[in-house]
Amino acid sequence: MKIRLDKFISSQLNLTRSDAKKSIKKGLVEVNNTIITDSGFLIESDVDSVFYNGQAVAYKRYRYIIINKPKGILSASNDKRRKTVVDLVPNDLSRPNLFPVGRLDKDTTGLLIITDDGDFAHKVISPKSMIEKAYIAELDGDINEEIIDVFSKGVVLHDGTPCAPAKLFRLEKNRARVVITEGKYHQIKRMFGTVNLGVNSLHRESIGRLKIPEGLNFGECVEISFTELESLCLYQFVHNQ
Ligand code: URA
Repeated sequence: MKIRLDKFISSQLNLTRSDAKKSIKKGLVEVNNTIITDSGFLIESDVDSVFYNGQAVAYKRYRYIIINKPKGILSASNDKRRKTVVDLVPNDLSRPNLFPVGRLDKDTTGLLIITDDGDFAHKVISPKSMIEKAYIAELDGDINEEIIDVFSKGVVLHDGTPCAPAKLFRLEKNRARVVITEGKYHQIKRMFGTVNLGVNSLHRESIGRLKIPEGLNFGECVEISFTELESLCLYQFVHNQ
């Protein structure tokens, strides 16, 4: 893909376009061993070798980040007043246009993917993909066989919205693993609401086979390659086509 040099530098190194232009003008950027000072110079992003300040710049079309979302943080790209998950991405991983793949409620914790790849996000979110999202829910009452049965048949929410069948595994009398393939607004809280149970806490532990990497604390981020994500996350999508 052909791309302007200033755009390439700003997107890959998380510089503003104007800082990228300044660096190019200063002679900090080499393309195929030649210093280029023209910001509009077109490069072939997958082929040309680009060095910035003596360091190779590997081209990544999109970025994929896993965050262990803490409580109290908004699942959004930006917000005037409140802190968002994208605000928690460290500078060295950040780039323009990052957004969370789906939303976790402000008080929900756990696995969330952040990316700038809209097509990938759509595949993960779409109920048609049948990608399973597993949550641990702590409830204000006990789970029984009847509730497990209701969930397995597909809950109808109080406003009449039907949900696809969900798996409910009782871990303790008031603690369960819930597995859903959709992401309706407050879905799990509303599903439990139909059986008169309140959710005291909710934590997402997996998306497909993707889990929170060991040692990744609340609020921390780590980059993951598309190849790894594809095999862990999209395999169900691929199998359901
Ligand atoms: N269901 C909810 O109710 N909340 C979440 O954050 C995710 C799923």
